[in-house]
Formats: sequence, C-alpha cells, structure tokens
Amino acid sequence: MAKRRTPKKSGDAASDRIAPGRISRRTFVTGAGLSGLLGAASSRGLGAAAAASSADGTPEQIHLTWGEDPASSVCISWVSAAQGQNPRVHLMQSASRTVHAVQRTYTDGINGQTVFTYHAILTGLEADTEFRYSVTADNDRNRARPYGAAFKTAPKGRAPFRFTSYGDLATPNTAWALSSPQSAFAVKAVERFQPLFHLLNGDLCYANLNPTAQPSVWADFGNNVQASASRRPWMPCPGNHEIEFGNGAQGFNSYLTRYTLPSNGTTFPGLWYRFKVGSVLFISLSADDVIYQDSGAFVTGPLPLQPSPSTGNPPIAPGTSLYIRGYSAGAQTRWLENTLAAASGDNTVDWIIVQMHQDALSSSKNGNGSDKGIREAWLPLFDQYGVDLVICGHDHDYERSWPVRGCNRDVGRDAASGAVVDTLQPKPVVTSNPANAPFDTSIGTIHFILGGGGTNAPLDAYGVNPESGAPQARVITKHNRPLPAKAPGTFGKAGADALEDAVWSARRDTSTGYGIGVFDLDPGAPGGKTSITISYYHALGADSTATSNYELFETVVLAKARRDTLRPAG
Ligand SMILES: [Fe+2]
Ligand SMILES: [Fe+2]
Repeated sequence: MAKRRTPKKSGDAASDRIAPGRISRRTFVTGAGLSGLLGAASSRGLGAAAAASSADGTPEQIHLTWGEDPASSVCISWVSAAQGQNPRVHLMQSASRTVHAVQRTYTDGINGQTVFTYHAILTGLEADTEFRYSVTADNDRNRARPYGAAFKTAPKGRAPFRFTSYGDLATPNTAWALSSPQSAFAVKAVERFQPLFHLLNGDLCYANLNPTAQPSVWADFGNNVQASASRRPWMPCPGNHEIEFGNGAQGFNSYLTRYTLPSNGTTFPGLWYRFKVGSVLFISLSADDVIYQDSGAFVTGPLPLQPSPSTGNPPIAPGTSLYIRGYSAGAQTRWLENTLAAASGDNTVDWIIVQMHQDALSSSKNGNGSDKGIREAWLPLFDQYGVDLVICGHDHDYERSWPVRGCNRDVGRDAASGAVVDTLQPKPVVTSNPANAPFDTSIGTIHFILGGGGTNAPLDAYGVNPESGAPQARVITKHNRPLPAKAPGTFGKAGADALEDAVWSARRDTSTGYGIGVFDLDPGAPGGKTSITISYYHALGADSTATSNYELFETVVLAKARRDTLRPAG
C-alpha cells in the first residue's frame, strides 16, 4: 500500500507544482476536426463521420445522475474511447425499452484529446422502483454481453431514504498527482451502505494537477466510481480541481461534458442545480463563484505549460492561474435566493441541504481554512431561509459545526500583523450537547466537512489558539493571487490571511482524514417530527496505509417539526 505524502502548506494542493508531464498510455491526439466543444448532437445523425469510425465504442466510466425529478427520471452517462455508433440504453421494464443517447464531446485544451461522452435521459419511470438496464453501441466490444446494472428511482412524497457523501476522491492510479488506493476503498464504502444516491462534494479527480493527461485521469476516476455510480446516482458539485486550463471560460468543460445534471434555467447549466427527494430539497452550488481563494489551475514555473500543437493553444506562462471568482456575475446567488424563496413556501419541503465544495467553516490547520467569500454571499441567505445542513469537502478531513446563525463582527485578526479583521465569524446557537440530544436545525445551520474521500493528502490537523487552547480557524478574507516565489521564475500563493477563534467548531476527527457520511432520513408522521440521523464512518489508519475498514466515528441526530405540521398545506 502506498505511504501517504506529507501534505504541503497549501493543503488542497492548489500550490502543487504543475510540471510539463508525459503523454500517458491512454492519451491519443486527434486532429482538429472534432473540436466542437460541448456541442450536443445525436450521434445517430452524424452519418459519414460515424461510419468512418470503426474504433472502440465500448461504454466505460458509466455513471448515473438524477434527472429533473428523481422519482421519475435518471440519466445514464458514459464515455467511449472513440465515437460510439448508435449508442443506446436498453431499459428492462415490463416491456423492454431502448433509449438513444445524445453525444457530447470536448477536445482537451492541453493535450488535444477528444473525449466522446454519451447521455441517455430516462423519463416517465415509476417511483421507488428498481430498473435493470444495459448500455451498448454498434461498435461495443462487449456487444454480445453489454454492461448492465440496476438502479432505483426515488420515492414520491414523504418517505424514508438514505444518502451518503464525501468529496475529494481522486483515483486509485498512483501515477497521478494526489491519487491514492484509498479512492477504490471509498467507492466500495458507498456500496457497503447501499444509499439511494451519493453526493460527491467536488475535487473529483484532480485532473488539473496532471495537466498534460487530464482525460486519462478522468478515465481512471470514471472507471473507479463506475462500480457504484452505475448502480445509484452520484450527484457532484464542481471543485477547484475541476478548473482546467484550455477547457472553457471557467475551465469546467471536462466536468460539464461528462455530467448531465438538473437544469438551473441560467446560462451556466450544470454548475449549480437543485433536486428534491422525498421531503428534502438538495441544492448543489459552485462555490468557486464566490470564494476569495485562488485555487484552480495554476502554473508554478519555472517552465511554462506547453499545450500540444494540435490544440493551437499558446504556452501558459509561469504564474498564470485560472481565478474565476465572480464568474456568474451574481446569477448563481440570484438563482439560490429564488430557489430558497420558493422552498420557503413549499410545505412539502421539510429539509434543505446544500452541497458545495469549499468551506465557510473550517479549522483545518494545514488545509485551506474558511473562506469569507461564502460567508458574505451565501450564509445570510442560509440564515434567512433556514438551510439545515451544508455539506462540503476541500479540506481533506472531518469537521462538524454547531448550529450557527448570524455572525460576530470584528473578532478576527490578521495572521501577519495581528490587526483586527472582520472575518464574519459565524455565531453558534448552542455550544454544548452533553446528552447527545437531537439538534433542531430550524434554529441554526450545521456545516459538515466531508473531505476525506480518497485523495492522497489528508488534512486532519486542526488549529488551536496557543493562548487559550481553544479551536482556531484560518480564514481567507482576500484573494491570494500568484506571487513570485524564492526560486527564480517560480510562483506561489499565500495561505489564509486571517485567524479567528473557531467558536462554531463542535467536533473534529484528529485520527484520520478519511471517511464517509451516511444520512438516514425519517419523514416522521403527520403532526410529529422528522429526523435525519447522520453517521460518520472513518477509515482508521488510512492516513498512512489504505484500508477497507470504515468504522463508526460519531452519530448525530437532527430533528424538527414537519413543515406540514407548522403550516398545513392549503
Ligand atoms: Fe481536495
Ligand atoms: Fe478543493
């Protein structure tokens, strides 16, 4: 088993050197003829182009996502090495049904590889029902026995269900930066708990730290998660390591081409979305839009990053970073507010759970820390509309907050000068729970960091105020754009610029950075309470040696009155 590397100062590996790398075994370079980025077209209509491809159309990297309504719609997506001919899904219902897939491609802006992805959207499915399916194409090597699996649709209305979550997964192929064998065990862990679906909280595979082989890293990721993601939806949010040079204005073309996600009605499809399962509204956000931290693709130097000549893209100079704060010009926050406002008038929604990658509340000592950008843009909305849970990744550890509402002003200090800084320190509503009683999240939002999927950089050391011994957080309150570093021609980025007492921090796992959150919803009965039981299982010992052993670390229960109890419908 691989020994973990010591995490670097900028914990999320944002400052890991991007070195011009080899072209991997899986990389091939195509001409410019198929460079229609994100162009959606039915592959059945491609005529001569499709006929010209006799290469391998075998489906791989097969993964499910929810459609617009998880009770009736699921999207089956996959990738093939070459263009698939007549790519399709066979759905086994009472009568067999064939659903043709839509092709979306992109050509990687660094190595010029064209990636062929396929998406078959199944609609009109019966709720709470298991379906068997297979995926194939005319040039599927396994056409005689195509890949098949089964999934279950979500229940309708108030019903019990389970979901699981973690972020920062990477791949089991240790040839790639930040990959680790633990990521294979993490996929198996999801299957152990058999959730209805899984939330994958960003930093999927760290392809942008392997810039000359990005599609190959994605392939190793996709083939690793297939063992679970072909059996139940894995709902992702984008993280900073999905931001890739040469792949679109925000660098998300690879991510967006591979995933079909519920619509958001804006000009940024796929980056944020909502879906509802039972009485829970899930809201998935793209926090790179609001955070101060610069942690996307970055060339540290001294050499430039040299794209393949086939891309026609120029070298990317040392010191260049893809910093996308503010990319939606407020569109995402407006959508969030509209979505929350609509939920506040919907008596079928008992719970609101937000998924995002970066953290508003993190006291990791050697990771990224808390980002004031989220506190400014979104925490007031979470307060106003009563978001119950926020589930994140980014720091590769486990941390749980007390329920928080509002903030304390001017209580932080500059990490260098000690001057007062307004970090908008979240204010805990309670700060003890000796009887381990259920938390009522109608009085405050609980934030969870579940950043220990499988990546090779555990960050489970936490800040402590040297004077008081109390938890202390590092807070990013301004951008950290690249600056010249010591070695000639190289660049680095500063860490968090401020400190605050982490008065909001309730529990931190100091024994391992790895684990999985298991969430069980009990809808309760009319006139009563509904609850969510959260069990966090951690992979003890995985900081040094990958392990399949996930043990219970803690269980937390949330309980609140059902919305239909408080305000009867009608
Ligand atoms: Fe990460
Ligand atoms: Fe991250």
